[in-house]
Amino acid sequence: MSALTVPDAVVLVELERLAVEVALEAGRLIVDDRPADLGVSKTKSTATDVVTVMDQRSQDLLRTRLQAARPGDGFLGEEEGGTDRESEITWVVDPIDGTVNYLYGIPSYAVSVAAVVGDPTTPGAWRPVAGAVVNPVTGELFHARLGGGARLRRGDGDARRLVIADPPGLGHALAGTGFGYDTRRRLWQATLLVQVLPHLRDIRRIGSAALDICAVAAGTLDCYFERGLNPWDMAAAWLVLTESGGVFTGLGDLAPDQDMVVGAAPALHAELEPLVRRAVESVGGE
Ligand code: IPD
Ligand code: CA
Repeated sequence: MSALTVPDAVVLVELERLAVEVALEAGRLIVDDRPADLGVSKTKSTATDVVTVMDQRSQDLLRTRLQAARPGDGFLGEEEGGTDRESEITWVVDPIDGTVNYLYGIPSYAVSVAAVVGDPTTPGAWRPVAGAVVNPVTGELFHARLGGGARLRRGDGDARRLVIADPPGLGHALAGTGFGYDTRRRLWQATLLVQVLPHLRDIRRIGSAALDICAVAAGTLDCYFERGLNPWDMAAAWLVLTESGGVFTGLGDLAPDQDMVVGAAPALHAELEPLVRRAVESVGGE
């Protein structure tokens, strides 16, 4: 990670501003154009198609805006259609994080936009340098840039600097986590949870990894762990958490990756990461 070139402070401010601008615009799109009866039709395959269409439309909007503003940058999104980079920056976007919540009309979904350096397709070879996560229903906007701190703005209010609170001990910690879509992965995750849950206050499965990780920065969750996250699920929220003073890693010395991410304030992370690591070792492979 140390070899990665970080843009200068002026560029970082511009990347953060652009991430906020496009995330807000895509957030408006997915709310304004979400069919009011989408949840009613959720057992029909057309409902899933509508979600897929909205995912793609949100991503297309993000790509169009980002390429217009910074033509040489790369682009990696959850949906089809990446772009190679000529600059040191790649935009890593999740056009709707929390798609099942979006389908059901549960107001916990987000647009996540991050500018990263390095190769986001190679675990451990990249890091976010600026980013934004917006919940377009509640109007919560989290944003951060490397070395510039993390902020939370609610609606039209002023942005407040996020400084992660002193955490409770592990036994009083409320943890966010999530489950993948693949049946084998879910079985593995459930087995892991059996080992971890007795050591925590409780868990929440809110349904948007990006919002969960930002919630740790804001203090509405104490910690977070999940296996199977993709770069777009975590890129912007990773920076929000670390810029608030939190720690976000993989297991042991590893960078956050698909195998596991663990996020919390430093003292709680020091308790949670070994617990999750021991549980992973005991559960074994998927
Ligand atoms: C999912 C959500 C969910 C997490 C899954 C992700 P999606 O993203 O973030 O909370 O548990 O691992 O895949 O599919 O809603 O964009
Ligand atoms: Ca996602």
